[in-house]
Amino acid sequence: MTKKGIILAGGNGTRLHPATRAMSKQLMPVHDKPMIYYPLCTLMQSGIRDILLISTPRDLPQFRQLLGDGIQWGLQISYAEQPTPRGLADAFIVGRSFIGNDNVAMVLGDNLYYGHGLHAVLHTAAQKPSGATVFAYRVSNPERYGVIVYNANNMPEDILEKPQNPPSRWAVTGLYFYDNHVVDIAKDLKPSQRNEIEITDINRIYLKQKQMDIVNLGRGYAWLDAGTHETLADATNFVRIIEQRQNIKIGCVEEIALAMKYINADQVLKIASETGMTPYADYLRDLVVSTPT
Ligand code: DAU
Repeated sequence: MTKKGIILAGGNGTRLHPATRAMSKQLMPVHDKPMIYYPLCTLMQSGIRDILLISTPRDLPQFRQLLGDGIQWGLQISYAEQPTPRGLADAFIVGRSFIGNDNVAMVLGDNLYYGHGLHAVLHTAAQKPSGATVFAYRVSNPERYGVIVYNANNMPEDILEKPQNPPSRWAVTGLYFYDNHVVDIAKDLKPSQRNEIEITDINRIYLKQKQMDIVNLGRGYAWLDAGTHETLADATNFVRIIEQRQNIKIGCVEEIALAMKYINADQVLKIASETGMTPYADYLRDLVVSTPT
């Protein structure tokens, strides 16, 4: 059972310069809310309430200002510094004392997941007592990602990080569930050619040990990352179109907290009144009216 989660929200955001020269990429808006809300909601939907946010010494104060200790959403949010972007696997070194003896999930701060039934898929991954779970998604540009190699029986047999000639179109997405062994595995990793300790090397170890579930997120799901101007605009457009068409919100932390019963209607109304006369606050007020108590 996974009760702890890490959001990795560091890095230099160099691909978004000059927009991110003075601020974190993961604090930039994706349509009507900060990017970080989306991966936060993903962890919350997994049933995770104890969350460590890792970012740079420069950006951590702003994350604290935005998210606080999480109590307003029924969460416990703590913070840790990653002084240099040593690689995604570094999250389990920086987060070692937070993880303790528990299982842990990690989500990248620029990843957005959406789809009917996602809650159940996440719940299943979080319930697994041992081994690892990752999620695969079919993409048109697999060379940008960790890519799954399938054998003749269509079973995953390896994962390659950013291969020049991708062996499949299935990318490993930025959400990972691990048992506690990940802490020791991460500690012993050697840096790759690009001088990072790679999450893909962790995943290869679990896969070789037959301790890895790879869950395909098929056509009914959206997985977006927002690392470039184009993908940031894509994510904004995706969220805007769905929200406008259906009058629902994607990545509304208060809505998830209410649905998960982490907070009650009064707490949502309090946040609404602190959010001023904005469409977001109106949505929160409507939520309370339309949610059966
Ligand atoms: O998005 C999924 C992909 O994420 C996976 O398919 C790849 O296997 C995995 O390596 C990773 O690839 P990226 O090229 O997207 O990783 P990137 O270096 O862009 O880092 C992803 C996010 O994590 C980015 O928003 C910055 C943050 N980050 C990155 C590093 C290396 C950190 O906070 N600390 C770090 O040390």
